[in-house]
Amino acid sequence: MRYRAVFKIVAVIIVVLITWGIANNSFDQLETTRKILSFIDVDQRKPNSRTVAKAPEPKCSLSRVCPPHHFALHITSGAANVVGPKICFDGKIIMSHVFNNVGPGLNVVVVNGTNGVVDKFGYLNMKLGIKKDILAYLTNIQPGMIVLVASFDDMTTILTNEMREVFVGMGSSLIKSVKHRDNWVFAGIAGTENRSLFEKHAVNDQKTNIYEGWPDVVELSGCFPRTLTDGQTT
Ligand SMILES: *[C@@H]1O[C@H](CO)[C@@H](O)[C@H](O)[C@H]1NC(C)=O
Ligand SMILES: *[C@@H]1O[C@H](CO)[C@@H](O)[C@H](O)[C@H]1NC(C)=O
Repeated sequence: MRYRAVFKIVAVIIVVLITWGIANNSFDQLETTRKILSFIDVDQRKPNSRTVAKAPEPKCSLSRVCPPHHFALHITSGAANVVGPKICFDGKIIMSHVFNNVGPGLNVVVVNGTNGVVDKFGYLNMKLGIKKDILAYLTNIQPGMIVLVASFDDMTTILTNEMREVFVGMGSSLIKSVKHRDNWVFAGIAGTENRSLFEKHAVNDQKTNIYEGWPDVVELSGCFPRTLTDGQTT
């Protein structure tokens, strides 16, 4: 009897060890896949060494090359609470699901509008974040900075009117009507009340939702004018 009990325990331990080993292996594989994917994800094309005068190629999967003094951008919101958003600026993917640097709420990239240098990026957790800190982050963005935003999952749980007003101050006109689980993508300039043309909103509506409980993904792409040093756009 005793012998059988010991045998059972040993058997259980072996099974646990094997399962753990398999799980670890598949995590490794997942990691490898992720690395490969993130490599592919980088928006780069191999230069064609044969052509002498290379024609500039469109950036961020746009269909055309942006005119001078413009930055290519492509912003995609999250899909439900499953696939994270993606923000590409001037040919580089700054944030994406594959890069594993996105999160629920507002995914924000702040760029110096004059020279196109990415100043900071990250996500503001609009479900579990601290309202005071989020408002401070938004109000601290310097005038003239280009602000790129993509929603993921839900961006309204702790969104206050004060925060909405900050986005209005960056040129948003749709932020006031964004509700629970809506999708929203936006590009604007801090410190300008001028309405931005770079903005899209998808409404969470059971009749039209693509995903159960969430609307379709929204995306915007185009050429964003550089901020001139005097704060005006070209
Ligand atoms: C953006 O970069 C320009 C040029 O380097 C610099 O003069 C300016 O202060 C920067 N703007 C902000 C808001 O940091
Ligand atoms: C706002 O738009 C007006 C009219 O298009 C333009 O003259 C002005 O320079 C813009 N202001 C900023 C800060 O971009």
